Amino acid sequence: MSNPASPPAVGVLDDRPGLTFPPGFLWGAATAAYQIEGAAAEDGRTPSIWDTFSHTDGRVVAGHTGDVACDHYHRVGDDVALMAELGLKSYRFSVSWPRVQPGGTGAANQRGLDFYRRLVDELLANGIEPWLTLYHWDLPQPLEDAGGWPARETAARFADYTTLVADALGDRVRYWTTLNEPWCSAFLGYGSGVHAPGRTDGADAVRAGHHLMLGHGLAVQALRASRPDAEVGVTVNLYPVDPASDAPADVDAARRIDGLANRFFLDPLLRGSYPRDLVADLRTVTDFDHVRDGDLATIATPLDMVGVNYYSRHVVAAAVEGVEADPAPSCWPGSEDVRFVTRGVPVTDMGWEIDAPGLTETLRRVHDDYTDLPLYVTENGSAFVDAVVDGGVDDVDRLAYFDAHLRAAHEAINAGVPLRGYFAWSLMDNFEWAWGYTKRFGMIHVDYDSQVRIPKSSARWYASVIRRNGLAA
Ligand code: NOJ
Repeated sequence: MSNPASPPAVGVLDDRPGLTFPPGFLWGAATAAYQIEGAAAEDGRTPSIWDTFSHTDGRVVAGHTGDVACDHYHRVGDDVALMAELGLKSYRFSVSWPRVQPGGTGAANQRGLDFYRRLVDELLANGIEPWLTLYHWDLPQPLEDAGGWPARETAARFADYTTLVADALGDRVRYWTTLNEPWCSAFLGYGSGVHAPGRTDGADAVRAGHHLMLGHGLAVQALRASRPDAEVGVTVNLYPVDPASDAPADVDAARRIDGLANRFFLDPLLRGSYPRDLVADLRTVTDFDHVRDGDLATIATPLDMVGVNYYSRHVVAAAVEGVEADPAPSCWPGSEDVRFVTRGVPVTDMGWEIDAPGLTETLRRVHDDYTDLPLYVTENGSAFVDAVVDGGVDDVDRLAYFDAHLRAAHEAINAGVPLRGYFAWSLMDNFEWAWGYTKRFGMIHVDYDSQVRIPKSSARWYASVIRRNGLAA
């Protein structure tokens, strides 16, 4: 790598056995448009809900916005060169909807599409498989003004946008994911309001979740119509949910949170139905009158693969009698009383507990309970506080996190899970949503003043993992 000043990370991972992944395993790294591109008002791009949200006082730490971010829009050639140095086999990125279809309706913006054509062509020229995500949270603001994801029409707009992107890029892109983490779009965006658009209504969150999935189903059909050869999937963020004890009330709390976090999406997408217990849990929030005949069949339109984003585990307990539930708007509608318990195990800079076995468990669950389709880890990674020392960043904690989770992924493969690839989150430090630039997930360090990129130790280590298709002894 281009950073000889950074010392190799040695010592931390000695005495672990080596591991080899199956031939052709797809090693990648991921980013998302609003988190890295910048150029927020260039070449015809118009605001998304994240532009509005980040420019609203008090929404993002320190008032950070994605206006400039990593300036990737202007540095795409250099950034792909860094990916090539890493030896990436694939790169997962998202298309900014308001860049390619300003306002979210009507004609394509060719200048916006040209940016993605250039990105994809550079990737292909470097032997890197483009992996395109259609929606990574940047809804065009006029569509939010017209009702956002709680409104059914937004699903149809998403299908139109999908056709526009598939027609423009389908000759170059084989792998497509429709949505990234619909739980976050629905429940953080419309439930707790900590993500854009910042609305706080449990029923709207549930409706948003449904219309996101409806949009997904329509988008799969649009993709198939435009590019019959496309490989199409969706990316969900999943968590094992454990009860804090085997007391029946804690076990029930875990069932409820598992319903909202995991089964709310997995069941409709892969089985074509909502779980009965979840519908019952939500009866004080909504009667599901937004669900129309045929919606669930559309949502369950067959896929070619499933993407899993994995970061941590939830451990939960029932309400303590006499203690009021936190009155803050919640991303767990109908289950606001459930308490999230910390176990005292090591955490990342996000405060998320590090739990590599949870990745094995999650992959096995999706395979055993839901589908034989190929699975991909479309995101996995960690934020830690990094220090630039002598021009290098020796991020041993992040490296150890990746190592532990790759071992967990390998264990899932040994258990029979058809896991076909792994994307590290993230290629480079970027705009971490409500946390702005204060949390660093990258394998490549970004100095936001100079835009200088420094591959961290984890990047150099990941390059060696890719080279040997596994972990060294
Ligand atoms: C999930 C999201 O897809 C991504 O945008 C985010 O930065 C990471 N996880 C880390 O929170």
